[in-house]
Amino acid sequence: MSGVDKALNLIFLGPPGAGKGTQAVFVTKEYGIPQISTGDILRSAVANQTPMGVKAKRYMDDGLLVPDDVVVGIVEERLASSDCDGGFILDGFPRTVAQADALGAMLKGAGRAVAHVISFEVDHSVLLGRLTGRRMCRSCGRGYHVLFDRPSAEGLCDACGGELFQRDDDKEETIRRRLDVYDEQTSPLKSYYADKGLLRKVDALGTIESVQSAIQCILVGR
Ligand code: AP5
Repeated sequence: MSGVDKALNLIFLGPPGAGKGTQAVFVTKEYGIPQISTGDILRSAVANQTPMGVKAKRYMDDGLLVPDDVVVGIVEERLASSDCDGGFILDGFPRTVAQADALGAMLKGAGRAVAHVISFEVDHSVLLGRLTGRRMCRSCGRGYHVLFDRPSAEGLCDACGGELFQRDDDKEETIRRRLDVYDEQTSPLKSYYADKGLLRKVDALGTIESVQSAIQCILVGR
């Protein structure tokens, strides 16, 4: 990586339900950089029944990773947009060593570099409760929780008034498979990025506000 790129290029790394999407919303608002969630992009493709969405759906429904070439293509195209010039938050990508290698090559080729990989450190025992209680807005995608982040009006999004729903993959059996997949295929990325001196750990077991403060400390101290 070049070391000349001063943009706030961030990777949020952590298991399903660790709070990556929740915190990405705050960082986007504070720093004006886009959140790039491969999960959101894939869900939108599934909803629109595009060829990519049709292919991805069976993996997502089973709690498995979508093939690397599909997600690498998504990210490559998205990072080429001008709104990423000042920085970006990769939320849910990379998830395999092959994806991390592909990202490294694409950033290097463009003279860009990762600023920080923020690792959400959380005990798996809390994740089931976070994910079974999660609700999402059908219109704007904002996430809520039935206990920890409740909307003002039951079943409706505070931001846009849209209807809240439960994600198909937030069922207990699928969540357990997603956690196993994280342990096997994604957690090795912690040492991958630690070896490059990029890993910054945050305690993601605390409240949403305390995690936000921990991330802010990393970003202001950079
Ligand atoms: P994706 O959408 O990326 O899901 P994920 O990584 O499993 O992450 P989540 O969205 O479930 O969790 P999060 O960490 O964002 O938690 P959140 O902030 O919402 O991926 C879905 C699928 O797409 C994958 O299974 C795969 O098939 C495919 N896919 C995506 N990217 C891919 C890739 N790169 N390669 C291959 N396949 C890919 O928080 C969860 C809940 O907890 C919310 O209700 C929230 O309100 C609550 N909460 C958050 N923080 C706290 C806190 N501190 N205390 C209490 N509650 C909290």
